[in-house]
Amino acid sequence: MASEEFSGNYMEKHTTAVAVVDFSPGGIREARRPGNGIFEFVTDNGVLMRMQLVAEGIVRFRFTPEGRFEDDFSYAIDPAFRGELPAHELIEFADGYALKTGRLSVRIARQGLKTTITDTVSGKILCQDEKGFHWEDNKIFGGEVVKMAKVCQNGEYFYGLGDKSCDLNLRGRKFELWGSDTYAYGRDTDPLYKNVPFYLSLCRGLCYGIFFDNTFRTGFDFGNDKPNVTSFKAQGGEMDYYFIHGETPLEIVQRYTRLTGMAEMPPLWALGYHQCKWSYYPEATVRNITRGFRQRKIPCDAIYLDIDYMDGYRCFTWDAERFPDPKKMVSELEAEGFKTVAIIDPGLKIDPNYPAWVEGIDRNYFCRRQDGALAKGSVWPGLCHFPDFTRPDVREWWATLFKDLIGETGVRGIWNDMNEPAVFEEGTFPHDVRHDYDGHPCSHRKAHNIYGMQMVRATRQGLKLWGKGRRAFSITRSAYAGTQRFACAWTGDNVASWEHLNMANTQCQRLATSGMSFIGSDIGGFIETPTPELYLRWVQLAVFHPFFRTHSSGDHGEQEPWSFGEDTTDWVRRAIEMRYHLLPTIYTAFWQYVSEGTPMLRSLPLVDHQNPDAYWRSAEFFFGDHLYVVPIMAEGEEGRFLYLPKGDWFAYHDDSRPKAVATDIWIECPIDRIPVFVRGGAVVPHWPLQQHVGEIANPEPELRAWWKNGKETSRWYEDEGDGEQWKEEVYRDSTILLEGEEGRVAISREWKGSWTPGYESVEVSFCGIGSAEAELVVSVDGAERAALRGDDGRYRVKVPRDFRKVEMVWVPVEVEVANAGRERSNVE
Ligand code: GLC
Repeated sequence: MASEEFSGNYMEKHTTAVAVVDFSPGGIREARRPGNGIFEFVTDNGVLMRMQLVAEGIVRFRFTPEGRFEDDFSYAIDPAFRGELPAHELIEFADGYALKTGRLSVRIARQGLKTTITDTVSGKILCQDEKGFHWEDNKIFGGEVVKMAKVCQNGEYFYGLGDKSCDLNLRGRKFELWGSDTYAYGRDTDPLYKNVPFYLSLCRGLCYGIFFDNTFRTGFDFGNDKPNVTSFKAQGGEMDYYFIHGETPLEIVQRYTRLTGMAEMPPLWALGYHQCKWSYYPEATVRNITRGFRQRKIPCDAIYLDIDYMDGYRCFTWDAERFPDPKKMVSELEAEGFKTVAIIDPGLKIDPNYPAWVEGIDRNYFCRRQDGALAKGSVWPGLCHFPDFTRPDVREWWATLFKDLIGETGVRGIWNDMNEPAVFEEGTFPHDVRHDYDGHPCSHRKAHNIYGMQMVRATRQGLKLWGKGRRAFSITRSAYAGTQRFACAWTGDNVASWEHLNMANTQCQRLATSGMSFIGSDIGGFIETPTPELYLRWVQLAVFHPFFRTHSSGDHGEQEPWSFGEDTTDWVRRAIEMRYHLLPTIYTAFWQYVSEGTPMLRSLPLVDHQNPDAYWRSAEFFFGDHLYVVPIMAEGEEGRFLYLPKGDWFAYHDDSRPKAVATDIWIECPIDRIPVFVRGGAVVPHWPLQQHVGEIANPEPELRAWWKNGKETSRWYEDEGDGEQWKEEVYRDSTILLEGEEGRVAISREWKGSWTPGYESVEVSFCGIGSAEAELVVSVDGAERAALRGDDGRYRVKVPRDFRKVEMVWVPVEVEVANAGRERSNVE
């Protein structure tokens, strides 16, 4: 019988009566080597398999029962990706072939084309086909339902797959990818908004990733139907997947991210705090809110306009009564340090008096049904037509529509919503809607999962076209693999509940594992009202989410940082202040993401991958290289057990040291902050407090260096904070080495890039040293300097901007060891 992923669609429902027959490849009758790392095998029943070495650790597998492949086109693979051909060798055996490359051996069985991939260093099997490639003819739509079944090993855990809201480990579950508008979704709601067909496997210290590049409705099963089988399939298209290997899970994510494209540096203000609601209007309300931040001294960088700024929800228009002079408002807000971000949805209202729609219809830019009628659907403005964003000329046109909003009015960010696409009642487009798919015409069955991605791609083009050389800031709700090149994202319409706070934590980590690090959730919950404690705990977690925005549906109470009583306001302010102090660290993690594809949020199992005890944990995560965040996600939780990976750790807030390193460490969690640990030896850049990015022209950085008896490397990235010069290496990318031994600690640095920061000096703080007054000597690049010991026990020294080395030597006295979390201080 047809699989359940067909349910909910009127055409496919009719297929339920058709019996499913699975076909499999026969025996290899021909092996070809077209060159360039490509190997092809043809079976006696006409199946063609192509294996391609794409880059070090990346092998692509394509299968077709049709005997020849379709045009090789993918929206996911970054056109800028350049693989290099690694050394390799193909050997023929009686029962098949083996490709050896790096530490991989890929065996292809002569009968059935099944593959077995082995790690030659450990001699262990990484990934092995169970049934392997098989398919089902699609009688209704043509083509095939393509399927792959692999062995699900004992002790194998799975991560990734985009925005799924369950616990991190996917083992034992099954999922679909079909972008869906899922208002008030729950832990088990599936599919959700985003479609990222990439997963990561971890099995007793070994790891690999699979990226299934297929945009049709896809299904993934991690040992749910059959406990020993992991499978993936799609309702059409090719079986086209990339096997990605690496020494560590992070390396696999880096490779996947390189393949599907790197994000760009965001404007620095985009990493500040953002305030949103559906909707702030009229103008007086917007100004009240922004004034509220400045009066209460709560930092904030961006204010959002949801759909009610428009004239009758017509995109690219303004409601003249609510916003009589948008340009004046936007520029005055900007002068106060607020960037304005506006929402734009895909549907354009069918209205002959509405220029955007008229232009779209005149130029034939809207999607059509299979017999030529225009596809229409109801969204906020009523009946709409929808641009076919899979046409390059339509994307170009869409970009021009932002002339007023961005070029004239000065809006600095665009938020794309409803781009699954969402349509009231029907949910989305009917399957027969036609798309150009960049010159590969197809139906919505194939284009649905990339529609939102292509919309935000076009929007980003608009931001660049009119943005006067500024960096683009775009947000999307729907996504396919590779969308990180075009936008930041949020996790959609969540609910103000503790359960949803938990989900926000795993969803953001999971998206970071799936190549999309620039991610956040609606802080406090979009639907319903959070309690003060829930709102506070959410803000405290979101300090460590790259996209840091409160948003609410507006059909309940207020959801501004000051809406929950005085104490909560103070604690929320403190959390947001921490974010602003940490901006250089967050920016550095962003740079590592942009330049190397390293996820900004690093789930514990991905970092501590040699320790299977960590595999099932979902809560704790690393932010960047050196911060370890322990979210508090339950009501009234005054303490919790936590898992601390091996290594030297300090409590970030007070430099105290946890008593032990293992599971089951009890830690107290006062309401005013969540536990954060910093790795011994880390050098973490900070900024002085600002109410918004740019309030201080050249903020003097503070480098906090935590003690370690040994060595540790840290990164520190700086640039102008906006503009495209970073692409020309106009930045300062420092690598800092800390070396410590009894009575001596030194940090030395080197940097790349041609940027010279505008500040004169840097403050270096040595933390966690204990009492080291006796005969303390500090030298900076060889010259002696005075250091001061603060009440917080940190030794501070001012050093010139271009310092290379700071060294502190002392005669050791007793080292204070406190119990992490029990001592409190106001250090951030
Ligand atoms: C959708 C979005 C939400 C937005 C609302 C109105 O529900 O997910 O963020 O506020 O539409 O535009």
